[in-house]
Amino acid sequence: MSKVILITGASTGIGRATAEYLTQLGHRVYGTSRKPFTEIVPFQTLLLDVNDETSIQAAIAQLLQREQRLDVLINNAGLGIIGALEETPDALIEQVFNTNVYGLLRMCRAALPVMRLQGNGLIINVASIAGRMGLPFRGIYSASKAAVEILTETLNIELKPFGIRACSILPGDVRTNINAARLVAMPSLASPYRSFVETMNNIVNDEVSKAEDPLYIAKIIEQAINSSSPKIHYIAGPFLQRFSLWLKRFLPSRFFEYLLRGNYGLK
Ligand SMILES: NC(=O)c1ccc[n+]([C@@H]2O[C@H](COP(=O)([O-])OP(=O)(O)OC[C@H]3O[C@@H](n4cnc5c(N)ncnc54)[C@H](OP(=O)(O)O)[C@@H]3O)[C@@H](O)[C@H]2O)c1
Repeated sequence: MSKVILITGASTGIGRATAEYLTQLGHRVYGTSRKPFTEIVPFQTLLLDVNDETSIQAAIAQLLQREQRLDVLINNAGLGIIGALEETPDALIEQVFNTNVYGLLRMCRAALPVMRLQGNGLIINVASIAGRMGLPFRGIYSASKAAVEILTETLNIELKPFGIRACSILPGDVRTNINAARLVAMPSLASPYRSFVETMNNIVNDEVSKAEDPLYIAKIIEQAINSSSPKIHYIAGPFLQRFSLWLKRFLPSRFFEYLLRGNYGLK
């Protein structure tokens, strides 16, 4: 059955691939971006900044005017960040949490009254495998995605009486534009963290640029949309990244940390 689907951050990466894929399957998809799309895309587009309440209200109003309903909200818009916790400025931390966490909540607040009135709806939050562990020099990103995981669980319980479900998707590395948009709190030349942050930035950029195309995430999102009882969390990374979650769960914490440090060449 064709559903009305709103995807934040559909100009590139996972959001774009998902918008195209779900449109191909016959859904009525609205993909958002902060700037107007410059090329022709197969889905409907809306201007939306998750950090701007007025733009959110305007986008939802336009969608409702055309469709009179909203079946699925995919909170995909997000931002990466690299930096040592000690040296990451508040302004960058705020930017990440504003987009990845508060932005997601603003979108939920705008969509939920519509879904409640319908008596159904699905919220899909794009989290990350990185949110299940404190990654070195990616602590702010990990913390923002951990928040997304917890909020998803709470939403799912709070919304059940209204027939609305919430789930999260946890991608591992995916080849997208995230490298270009990622914030980097680059330490000064004199900083004891300089070489660590530089190395981590190179490793992460390299892993993402060699990762799989975002279509595989779009297909997992489709599974959640088609399910009559969606899982709360969909773990969607490459084998080793998914396996790391298993290791974290079953290994002693110190041993897991030892493996994590080894993976990034840290003592
Ligand atoms: N790529 C990975 O390896 C990976 C792994 C795990 C999780 N994720 C998560 O997947 C999601 C999508 O990321 P991606 O990898 O596809 O990165 P991407 O290619 O950089 O896409 C990010 C999207 O977010 C949008 N965006 C950023 N700030 C926004 C804001 N304030 N308001 C509205 N839209 C905003 C961007 O749209 P405009 O700039 O056009 O507005 C863009 O379309 C993110 O939540 C990310 O954390 C990615």
